Amino acid sequence: MQLAKRLDGIGEYYFSQKLREIDELNKQGKNIINLGIGSPDLPPHPEVIKILQEESAKPNVHAYQSYKGSPVLRKAISAWYKKWYNVELNPDTEVLPLIGSKEGIMHICMTYFEEGFFVLVPDPGYPTYSSAVKLSGATPVYYDLLEENNYYPDFDELEKIVRTSSQKVKGIFVNYPQMPTGQLPTKELFEKLVTFARKHNILIIHDNPYSFILNTNPMSILSVSRANDCVIELNSLSKSHNMAGWRVGMLCGAKEKIDEVLRFKSNMDSGMFLPVQLAAARALALEQDWYEQVNTIYNKRREKVFQLLDTLNCEYSKDQAGLFVWAKIEKRFKNCYECSDQVLHTAYVFITTGGIFGSAEEKYIRVSLCATEEKIEEARQRVINN
Ligand SMILES: Cc1ncc(COP(=O)(O)O)c(C=O)c1O
Repeated sequence: MQLAKRLDGIGEYYFSQKLREIDELNKQGKNIINLGIGSPDLPPHPEVIKILQEESAKPNVHAYQSYKGSPVLRKAISAWYKKWYNVELNPDTEVLPLIGSKEGIMHICMTYFEEGFFVLVPDPGYPTYSSAVKLSGATPVYYDLLEENNYYPDFDELEKIVRTSSQKVKGIFVNYPQMPTGQLPTKELFEKLVTFARKHNILIIHDNPYSFILNTNPMSILSVSRANDCVIELNSLSKSHNMAGWRVGMLCGAKEKIDEVLRFKSNMDSGMFLPVQLAAARALALEQDWYEQVNTIYNKRREKVFQLLDTLNCEYSKDQAGLFVWAKIEKRFKNCYECSDQVLHTAYVFITTGGIFGSAEEKYIRVSLCATEEKIEEARQRVINN
């Protein structure tokens, strides 16, 4: 059967391929230490689990749910945004629960983009942005985030792309704290982005899943004045609340944008299981001590990752937020693929190659903090001994 043309240029997701290779090695008894993926290994708060258990034992919670999500979850999202980002969102109209923010990326692309349009995508950046743009029929145009520019966009470059493009630039993906570089945003950066987007009538899609990880000042681009005109923000409980497998995310923005995305989304899926939504609402009400506890653990792990990177003679900044450490590899390696393959096949440790996040990133690797300190130390010992 011939595949649909929209799949041209869309390969299998890197991790789905790589995990098969790791499975093979594990079957051969290699016991791979996986420092590749940002899937939190710690559990959610016990209260969150308790609500899921109690609610799912009730007889009347198993029906289809509203496409717009439970009012309890929408109110919790709105209160969370007010408390931590100082952003006011109407829970009835400006919030849309999602089955993870990854699906939201696709919904937004299918709602707004199509053949004949360009969408700006960060390089380096989360690979799903460009896949979703391509699947929508639009064309991704990459903008550079360079180390010497603090991994911020060069606004002159953005202006030039918009001015010289043969097709209308309709959207821009932005993500701070940035994955994979760990760069934090500033209010000034968000303001500049909003000014740029308003000037050119471009939709900003800000993807914000890492703002609570190793960061004490979570920021939302929606806090910038008039951002509502041109911004949709995605957020997620996957990383901040250790709920990656639960699939709970959210989309926030002006009422008309929520309604527009819902027009697509309501044709694709249905509301989440109610007990999951109620438990997620509880997670969003957790206090400061939750984030502190989680970050204390990530902080210690990060120290271990720094030691591992020192053993590999990498260069890195200690000021990174999010679930990873981004590091420049030693010059003796031709590129990140050689470095990652060598570590995988000699020390049996999996580290992600920077190259999957952009064409210019072949000198970098990304190490995940989603493994215990003991595992990271064991990985370091294996590297030393091989
Ligand atoms: C930058 C970025 N955005 C979005 C996601 C997807 O998160 P979710 O679990 O909410 O779909 C990830 C997951 O790794 C990510 O790194």
